[in-house]
Amino acid sequence: MGALDRDTAPTTLVEALHQFRGSDLHDLCETTELAVIDGGGFGWVEPPSRDMLERFWRGVLAAPGRSLLVGRLDGVIAGSAQLLRPPPNNEAQRFAAAIIMSFVAPWARGHGLARALLELAEKIARAEGFEVLTFDCRETQTAAMQLCLAMGFVHWGSNPVYAKVKGGLVTGHYYYKVLDPGTDGPSSSEPPQ
Ligand SMILES: CC(C)(COP(=O)(O)OP(=O)(O)OC[C@H]1O[C@@H](n2cnc3c(N)ncnc32)[C@H](O)[C@@H]1OP(=O)(O)O)[C@@H](O)C(=O)NCCC(=O)NCCS
Repeated sequence: MGALDRDTAPTTLVEALHQFRGSDLHDLCETTELAVIDGGGFGWVEPPSRDMLERFWRGVLAAPGRSLLVGRLDGVIAGSAQLLRPPPNNEAQRFAAAIIMSFVAPWARGHGLARALLELAEKIARAEGFEVLTFDCRETQTAAMQLCLAMGFVHWGSNPVYAKVKGGLVTGHYYYKVLDPGTDGPSSSEPPQ
């Protein structure tokens, strides 16, 4: 990268958001709409109304067991992901957290935001003592699949009836990553206890 590139390259930042400031909520909604219109891949097929989106994101921020992570390009929210912890009743799976709803606005892609968001989710999960991270996505999300494999996730299975998009069924892929070096992952074919 030359001196000129360094001067013009956008600044990137990822963080766990605890409250919306300034234009954060507006920018997060706009980012969501653009990513959904571009093809989605993280739940919505059509962009919901702005009112519904605002209520959705306020709910995410307030929900227990969730961390809302955002990625900023030159200070503007341009991507997001969530770290989802298991509910208190799920004692058998309390060692595993999930990364859900990761996306970046089309105009902000290719600057490393998605990777940084997943790395932040992993860092928080490790700090909280989680041993495993899970992730899933539609088979059409090539970039997301490449990214999670590059980050050491293991593809363990696929569901041919994972999502329905514009009337057609789409296969989904499931991944896990072992965070605790003491947990080797599946090693036995013994029946579950
Ligand atoms: C997947 C997505 C989040 C990537 O965002 P991004 O900020 O552009 O990604 P990054 O710049 O951090 O790139 C990280 C890695 O992703 C992969 N990647 C990114 N764009 C890619 C593309 N067009 N094709 C293939 N792999 C790609 C690469 O492995 C890349 O690593 P590299 O730069 O070392 O090659 C973005 O494309 C997106 O929002 N897609 C739609 C929603 C989605 O699929 N969400 C995931 C399922 S919930």
